[in-house]
Amino acid sequence: MSSSTLRLLPLHENRDFYEHVLELLNDEWPQSKTIRMRRLERSCNDLPLSYILLGDQNQLIGYCYVDRMFNEEQSVIVESVCIQRNLRGHGYGKILMKFLEDHLRERMPKIEWIYLTTTDKRHFYEKCGYEETSARVRLNISSKLFNGNEQALKNLLASQPSSNTDSHVILQKGSTIQRIQTVWMKKQI
Ligand SMILES: CC(C)(COP(=O)(O)OP(=O)(O)OC[C@H]1O[C@@H](n2cnc3c(N)ncnc32)[C@H](O)[C@@H]1OP(=O)(O)O)[C@@H](O)C(=O)NCCC(=O)NCCS
Repeated sequence: MSSSTLRLLPLHENRDFYEHVLELLNDEWPQSKTIRMRRLERSCNDLPLSYILLGDQNQLIGYCYVDRMFNEEQSVIVESVCIQRNLRGHGYGKILMKFLEDHLRERMPKIEWIYLTTTDKRHFYEKCGYEETSARVRLNISSKLFNGNEQALKNLLASQPSSNTDSHVILQKGSTIQRIQTVWMKKQI
């Protein structure tokens, strides 16, 4: 495998791949296609942005999703990093992360930090140069639910008892806050 034959491209500029991406993600994390498609269709030149990693035959190798961070202008969060099941362990994941960093440096020069969360892939991200950091607030600020509710959500978060364990805060319908044990990692680009 040579990285020179691989390309990382924005999904919204390659609409033929929507269905392939749905299959890839649903194979790993089964979810309603409608909800999944809604998220994919939000990809745009600003953020959130979905990227696909393509091979020399234009085949889909991997995917990742990049979004803004709440109250952190110079940071993004990377989610849903996924390599086709039969291609794992061949260095593609590491290449995807490297290409992503290159793209962000080029396209979004104000971005300095990439954050991510993981429950069980910490070693993979360490190999990619990420290090553990303190927990951040992860709000789905690209969600329609967030629009117009920013202050209410800030108040809601402020009223939550602080936890001394790493936690992943997810905004759910009805403004419930659920905490899931996870590790936060970051890398300066
Ligand atoms: C996690 C994932 C993206 C890694 O992609 P990959 O192509 O298999 O990883 P690579 O082959 O590029 O591995 C890069 C390095 O990380 C290490 N690594 C990869 N997966 C690992 C794992 N699960 N545990 C420990 N080390 C791992 C590799 O040994 C390799 O080390 P090296 O550089 O010393 O050779 C891929 O396994 C995947 O899609 N998993 C399912 C989805 C998922 O869990 N995504 C992460 C969400 S947080």
